Amino acid sequence: MQTVAVIGATGAVGQEIVKLLEKRNFPLRKLRLFASSRSLGKTMSFQGNALALEILSEDALRTIDLAFFAAGSKVSLEWIPKAKKHGALCIDSSSAFRMDQAVPLVIPEINKAALEKHQGLIASPNCAATVLLLPLAPLHQAFQAKRIVLSTYQAASGGGAELLKHLIEETRSVLEERSHPTHLPFPYAFNLFPHTSALQENGYVDEELKMLHETRKILNDEMLQLSATCIRVPVLRAHSVSANIEFHRSFTLEEARELVQHAPGVTLFEDRGGNRFPTPHDATSQDNVLCGRLRLDPSQPKTLELWAVGDQLLKGAALNAVQIGEECIRECLS
Ligand SMILES: NC(=O)c1ccc[n+]([C@@H]2O[C@H](COP(=O)([O-])OP(=O)(O)OC[C@H]3O[C@@H](n4cnc5c(N)ncnc54)[C@H](OP(=O)(O)O)[C@@H]3O)[C@@H](O)[C@H]2O)c1
Repeated sequence: MQTVAVIGATGAVGQEIVKLLEKRNFPLRKLRLFASSRSLGKTMSFQGNALALEILSEDALRTIDLAFFAAGSKVSLEWIPKAKKHGALCIDSSSAFRMDQAVPLVIPEINKAALEKHQGLIASPNCAATVLLLPLAPLHQAFQAKRIVLSTYQAASGGGAELLKHLIEETRSVLEERSHPTHLPFPYAFNLFPHTSALQENGYVDEELKMLHETRKILNDEMLQLSATCIRVPVLRAHSVSANIEFHRSFTLEEARELVQHAPGVTLFEDRGGNRFPTPHDATSQDNVLCGRLRLDPSQPKTLELWAVGDQLLKGAALNAVQIGEECIRECLS
């Protein structure tokens, strides 16, 4: 790749993309970093150089071969069509185009074949859906999931750099018995709350519906039923998912464990003797999703309980996007 761009480079996801491009020695000649006008005058470090933050323009887009979009849906909706028009391959971490039939929604460990059909844009899925999907995909392939009931426990950084800062500052204020200005209608420190994405008429919030629709799209199974409850918890980083999964086919716990143990992108983390299972702290900065607490549900046949935790800024966003970029480059070279 000649010129690679990160749009939203100063954000929670964008910063991780920049670090990963360096860490994984992503093939590029030039990196350009974009953010809002608030970041003009700032720089970010890449391979020992201080790169200036720029603002997007059609002129800038003309020079870009591969663009990682991590600046939210509004920016993606406005600028991806323009970037594509100028010939850039776009990889989007926002939800703007995920459910567009013409846009592949890809987790390379699960459905990289979908990349073959891309038309200049590939979407990276919702972070909580990714944590569920990595252990789920091989189980689905073997036993065919019928219905999933799940709850998420989502970290502050999933809501972006501002929410992360808010949690840290509010926690400090509470401990020091100071008041803290808040834009939330409730305290976040030492509290939790249902996900604040838009509430729909059926009572679900958008985040919960993304879990349903993106899971179906990635597993290519429109019959799969899924009901999610998404909760924001006062954790800095890494989302957790507790899922009850009913399958069409019978299986043993050992068969399920074997599949999860060998699932790409997943580490089976179960110390039953020590009653020690994955926590967000364990998953922070890890590439793999950690999965444990596999149990057969005694209340329902062919049903598995599982617990999965993943760094949503890495595999749930930045790492997945960079891996998509790496796959595309491999495809171009093959
Ligand atoms: N956080 C996660 O765990 C996660 C996981 C999966 C997917 N995502 C998705 O990834 C996207 C980014 O999320 P985030 O959490 O990283 O958000 P964030 O921390 O709020 O960062 C937003 C970034 O967008 C930039 N930006 C804002 N307006 C812009 C504009 N007009 N032009 C160019 N850049 C602009 C911001 O720049 P300034 O610093 O200058 O304001 C900042 O770099 C979202 O669509 C989100 O849904 C996030």
